[in-house]
Amino acid sequence: LGAPVIAIDGPSGSGKGTIAECLARRLGWHVLDSGALYRCLGLAAHRRALDLDDGAAMGRLAAELAIRFDGDRVLLNDEDVSDAIRTAEAGPRASRVAVHAPVRGALLSWQRAAARRPGLIADGRDMGSTVFPDATLKIYLDASPEERARRRYKQLKEKGMDANLPALTRELRERDALDRNREQSPLTIADGAVVIDTTALSIDDVVAAVLAEARSVP
Ligand code: C5P
Repeated sequence: LGAPVIAIDGPSGSGKGTIAECLARRLGWHVLDSGALYRCLGLAAHRRALDLDDGAAMGRLAAELAIRFDGDRVLLNDEDVSDAIRTAEAGPRASRVAVHAPVRGALLSWQRAAARRPGLIADGRDMGSTVFPDATLKIYLDASPEERARRRYKQLKEKGMDANLPALTRELRERDALDRNREQSPLTIADGAVVIDTTALSIDDVVAAVLAEARSVP
């Protein structure tokens, strides 16, 4: 049997990344930030001035990129792109390249290989539905759009990056719509997923709720 996987999906700003990190630390498990893969691809395509809407070209690029995680740093062809993939422009670019079937196919085995012992916390949009359909536990995190935009704003500001709340709110709505309505692995509540609305919850509350769900897995 493979390593246990906790799949955490949800829209942008629902707290997936933060919760995944906390859980991984608590359990001593590995973590997969699948959004970082799409962000790296969007960045690489932008830098090479390629057409982000060209699915075949994006699929080829996805297959040749060397992406590595080193602690909390993300390395793209050995360059630390941790900050470059978190700018306000990087999210929409990631969503644009994420719609293509060749892209998702190229990244599938890479993501599945991340499931190693003692276990994996995988965060994204299709962890429970497509990448790890047999996950030990599936969680769907949600929060009101206003709260999610506020969190993103705070995150960017804390990193000393430029941020504008109305623009972020608009960008978040557009990205959610794209992620929910695309044909390939759209953002949905996976079969059997436990839905947690984090709008009024602290990080500790959410971590405790997920751990309680994990303990009740037979
Ligand atoms: O989670 P994050 O905001 O880093 O994801 C950036 C974008 O990458 C998402 O808006 C989505 O379009 C795409 N993504 C995806 N599937 C995943 C993770 C992210 O399509 N599993």
